[in-house]
Amino acid sequence: MRTDYCGELRKEDVGREVTLCGWVHRWRDHGGIIFIDLRDVSGMVQLAFDPERSGEVHATGHSLRSEDVLMVRGKVSARPAETVNRELPTGEVEVDVSEVEVFNRAETPPFSVEERSDVDEVLRLRYRYIDLRREEMRDNLLLRHRVARSVRGFLDSNGFTEVETPVLTKSTPEGARDFLVPARLQPKKFYALPQSPQLFKQLLMVAGIDRYYQFAHAFRDEDLRADRQPEHTQIDMEMSFMTVPEILELLERLLVHLFESVLDVRLETPFPCMDYEEAMLRYGSDKPDLRFDLPIVDVSDILRQTGFAVFGKTLEAGGIVRAIRAPGAAALSRREIDELTDYAVSQGAGGLAYLIIRDGLKVQSPIAKFMSPDEIGSILEAVDAREGDIIFFVADAVQTAVPVLGAVRNRLARKLDLVQEGWKFLWVTDFPMFKLDEDSGEIIAEHHPFTLPNEETIGFLDDEPLRVRGSLYDLVLNGVEIASGSLRIHKPELQRRILEILGHEEHKMEQDFGFLMEALRYGAPPHGGLAFGLDRLVMLMAGLDTIRDVIAFPKTQSGGCPLTGAPAAVSPEQLKELKLKQR
Ligand code: AMO
Ligand code: AMP
Repeated sequence: MRTDYCGELRKEDVGREVTLCGWVHRWRDHGGIIFIDLRDVSGMVQLAFDPERSGEVHATGHSLRSEDVLMVRGKVSARPAETVNRELPTGEVEVDVSEVEVFNRAETPPFSVEERSDVDEVLRLRYRYIDLRREEMRDNLLLRHRVARSVRGFLDSNGFTEVETPVLTKSTPEGARDFLVPARLQPKKFYALPQSPQLFKQLLMVAGIDRYYQFAHAFRDEDLRADRQPEHTQIDMEMSFMTVPEILELLERLLVHLFESVLDVRLETPFPCMDYEEAMLRYGSDKPDLRFDLPIVDVSDILRQTGFAVFGKTLEAGGIVRAIRAPGAAALSRREIDELTDYAVSQGAGGLAYLIIRDGLKVQSPIAKFMSPDEIGSILEAVDAREGDIIFFVADAVQTAVPVLGAVRNRLARKLDLVQEGWKFLWVTDFPMFKLDEDSGEIIAEHHPFTLPNEETIGFLDDEPLRVRGSLYDLVLNGVEIASGSLRIHKPELQRRILEILGHEEHKMEQDFGFLMEALRYGAPPHGGLAFGLDRLVMLMAGLDTIRDVIAFPKTQSGGCPLTGAPAAVSPEQLKELKLKQR
């Protein structure tokens, strides 16, 4: 239908006859001449409907409203110097319309495509097709596409084969609840939607595919947050006959290629690497944001004999006292310090003690009188305190103190404006294989049950399984976990042992994972892989803070789709066909 895209016309096109299609973005009547910004996927250009040229065309132009869809024909002309719009790539030209056809007249949209006003998100999702007309949202989808294309290009040229795996399948445990689909042909049986393609990609390695990838949808019935959706997209990968350093090196090359081709950013490699234990100790998190330093320092040993009861009692009970030096925080008001304390308490701390460092390293604090000058001196030295700092302390059992310190660290960085621009990647490795489930007290897998224990700790498997670390690696970018993976178990006996430790009974193990263990008996190569959370990766690359803005049709916090109305009730006939009864 058209000769050109709206956003692509330039000065060089002046004099050409063009045909354009698109939406009315903005409409203005300038004393006779009607000006319209016509928008399509490429951008927009100004149209002029001049009554002197054609009364009929002008009358149609006059009748148009926002979001009407049209086709126009006309000549490109240069705008007079004083009306050039430097904000628009097409701002030096306009199109003098000689013919117009209106394809569709639009009702007044529920919100404006033009203004970047704060529209309620549920309304945006209800009319997502209008929301996606906004430049910002269209750019997000284009970015997502460019990321996917760049990644595919890299993987294709590095020996990877894309293979699709089933969506109607059996439970693939990744720590969330399954979404279930009743099987009409086998009453009382259910498919589970995959929480990831984990088992299939391992089977593909047994099949000799060597290097696999897939842009896979993963389904998890869990509570939603800004960076969690019930279905998300993974760039899922698996490789045979590779060591961890080889896998990480390949993934770093993938990211270098991606950032260079899509954002024109050159990343430095190798990325820093830290084991889980150190990340938790130093940053209070397994996904530390390294755009700021703010290390956490353990001061327990300095305070063993302290007269400050809160610290002394915690240490006696086997807990810890850890400190963060907040540079320049002495400028915070009393109210701000109180707010920070409230925040720490809301995260589970008993309180947030602090020392303010004044002139000449003099300490000001309600708790200073309970501490000896030696203790204070050693603490100042341990955290390398400077005038104008505040040292904050959390005293508690390790498992309570660590996440609180991590949260306080993040909060402080923002409060003190310490977050620097940039792309801070970090590999976090060697996570524990197992952890205790808080509710049931049972041993559960930290990642998934197919992870290979690392060599240094596999000896603890029988007696102290909680000390076993997995050959695991997470990739963190600016404090967000963007990918996670591991080496896998390729020996059936070890797989059986791990499932036993996780409390799977013999018949259940056979029923759930028999096919995997069987496959491992038919020649399984050593293999490993990882999956990127595509939504999170694109969110960060777009500089956004929710994955909903980089997903075309996301769900709300309660898992609903305001546009289609999903999830929805089904008819009694459908239930009957499925042999299901509703309670
Ligand atoms: P994991 O469960 O860590 O690993 O998932 C991989 C990555 O997917 C992203 N992610 C999510 N993104 C949005 N919404 C969610 N609900 C969500 N859950 C996870 C994260 C995460 O790092 N099979 C393994 C991978 C492997 O071992 O190869 C797996 O699924 O960015
Ligand atoms: P209190 O003795 O409860 O008045 O507390 C004295 C100071 O110690 C206050 O600044 C509290 O915020 C702080 N505090 C109390 N409990 C803890 C804790 N578990 N860790 C760190 N500081 C604490």
